[in-house]
Amino acid sequence: TKPITINTLRKMKLEKRKFVTVALYDAPMAAMAQKTGIELLLVGDSLGMTVLGFDSTVPVTMEHMLYHVEAVSRGNTMSLIMGDMPFMSYSTPELAMANATKIMQAGAHMVKLEGGAWLAPTVNMLADRGIPVCAHLGLTPQSVNKFGGFRVQGRTKSQAESILQDAKLLDQSGADLLVLECVPVELAKKITESVSMPVIGIGAGKDTDAQVLVINDILGLTERPPKFSKNFLVETASIPGALKKYADDTRNEIFPAEEHIFC
Ligand code: KIV
Ligand code: NA
Repeated sequence: TKPITINTLRKMKLEKRKFVTVALYDAPMAAMAQKTGIELLLVGDSLGMTVLGFDSTVPVTMEHMLYHVEAVSRGNTMSLIMGDMPFMSYSTPELAMANATKIMQAGAHMVKLEGGAWLAPTVNMLADRGIPVCAHLGLTPQSVNKFGGFRVQGRTKSQAESILQDAKLLDQSGADLLVLECVPVELAKKITESVSMPVIGIGAGKDTDAQVLVINDILGLTERPPKFSKNFLVETASIPGALKKYADDTRNEIFPAEEHIFC
């Protein structure tokens, strides 16, 4: 088998085969994900909360991200690896260019950034220069202070319409993937059908092209886990078993189940 590329994921979208994404942070987990055949790894800035003990992703720095992207890339030669751009590291296109370069040189194959229409020129600039970008819409955790808490986005008609328009614009601007976090199921379905880039859902129902979960939630390490997540360790009693069950259940559309869907 060959390493996964953005082309693999695009093909899977066209063939309506679900792919699997895990947010993880270190070499042994990355190696286990490779054994399990997980297509996409996200070195998420969620590491601020899951690994470093911060209460949001706002304090995460480039240094934190580079350290963990390097670790993950050492553990895995087959999956596509994307690295999150931390808070304010992409607030202008030029800054985004400089920081995305560092994340790529640390071993990522693409970068992810949070935000809507304002990011179109940045996505365009990175794409033109050879850096694939994953956009992230809906509940974008770096904006938690602006949202006034971690809450579902896109509930009203006008909010939903604006997220849909953002998704279309970023697709046209050259984004290669999109994460949709905590948006209503109907909206996630509509966006997935409206853009050519594959869409990865978290708390967004089962109609997206892929799912992502955080490894800590899969393994029951989270004290108050989000409602959309599932502890797969309980029924499998081993870490490789839990990863495999998450992957199988996602591919077979068993996960997410009704109980993980809340709007
Ligand atoms: O940081 C992260 O783990 C993420 C995913 C939850 C999408 O952004
Ligand atoms: Na993130």
